[in-house]
Amino acid sequence: MIQIKNTAVSLILDTSDKKSLEEIKLAFLGRNGKLTLLIKDISKLPNEKRPEVGRLANEVKKAIEDTIATQELRIRQLTDQELGVRREKVDTTAPGIKPNIGHLHPMTQILMDVVDVFKTLGFQAADGPEIESDYYNFELLNIPKDHPSRDTQQTLFLDTRKSKVTPGEVILRTQTSSMQGRIMEKIKPPVRVIAPGKNFRYEQVDASHGFEFWQVEGFMVDTNVRLTDLFGTIDYVLRQLMGQGIKLKFATTNFPFVEPGIDTYIHCSVCGGRGCSFCKQSGWSEIMPAGMIHPNVLKAVGYDSQKVSGFAFAIGLSRLVTLRYQMDDLRLLTNPDLRILEQF
Ligand code: DAH
Repeated sequence: MIQIKNTAVSLILDTSDKKSLEEIKLAFLGRNGKLTLLIKDISKLPNEKRPEVGRLANEVKKAIEDTIATQELRIRQLTDQELGVRREKVDTTAPGIKPNIGHLHPMTQILMDVVDVFKTLGFQAADGPEIESDYYNFELLNIPKDHPSRDTQQTLFLDTRKSKVTPGEVILRTQTSSMQGRIMEKIKPPVRVIAPGKNFRYEQVDASHGFEFWQVEGFMVDTNVRLTDLFGTIDYVLRQLMGQGIKLKFATTNFPFVEPGIDTYIHCSVCGGRGCSFCKQSGWSEIMPAGMIHPNVLKAVGYDSQKVSGFAFAIGLSRLVTLRYQMDDLRLLTNPDLRILEQF
């Protein structure tokens, strides 16, 4: 019996894989295993010997079983180490970690909406430079050097001292209206173009003004374009973008490159018309200045102002976003805080 135990234990400790361990287990403890057969024979022993041999047999059986168990564990750890496996419990029913998916910035969303609406009216979108010449930004637009309206557009000039450019001739564009000359010089009427982009002015920043702001300039030139076409276009576009229920009003104003000049006001959705810092307590917010293109501009781009006429407008894009989402401060749009951005 003791010999069986010793043989078994030494064989077990020599194994290094599960399969041979299984075989040893079968050879000693299986149905026809050496120890099993020996235990069966105990019944044949004389009565007085049986208890002692029985106890010994049980001890041997337990010792073999224990050794097998320990060796089994050792083999498993060994293989894990070799395979570089870490044994840990995985809860396959646990919900996964949701990845953070970004989305378009509200300014981009509204810009895409604006482009889409104008597309349905046959307008094409064009892009142009932010660094602009005095000529396209002012001169061509009927704003000569000494024109008082230049004071309303505090201009940022580029330092040209180290170049051959005349000082003051290269600026950061103050208005996307600069695109009127750039486009119309190149194409003949009929023209229907929108030009979205950034503008820059040396301005005091507040809830409704930034030193850097987005506009979508637009213009249309053809035979027989009338002021009513302009009103119809503004009305259609703003209702598409801001909802059919909005309230609009028009007032005459002055811009040197249009005659007459029109200001479009929208009922302030931030305060519902009661008056707030955003609409300067007036209940109305200026949203889309416009007008009929001045004959001097048409002439400057080489058009015959007797034969064609047109209108131009600008949409204050940043303002459109703040009104659409009822934000009371334009500066939130350039704030990178995710707690703000996640609300759109
Ligand atoms: N460019 C003007 C500005 O930024 C806005 C403007 C007014 C554009 C009337 C137009 C227009 O096209 O017709 O102040």
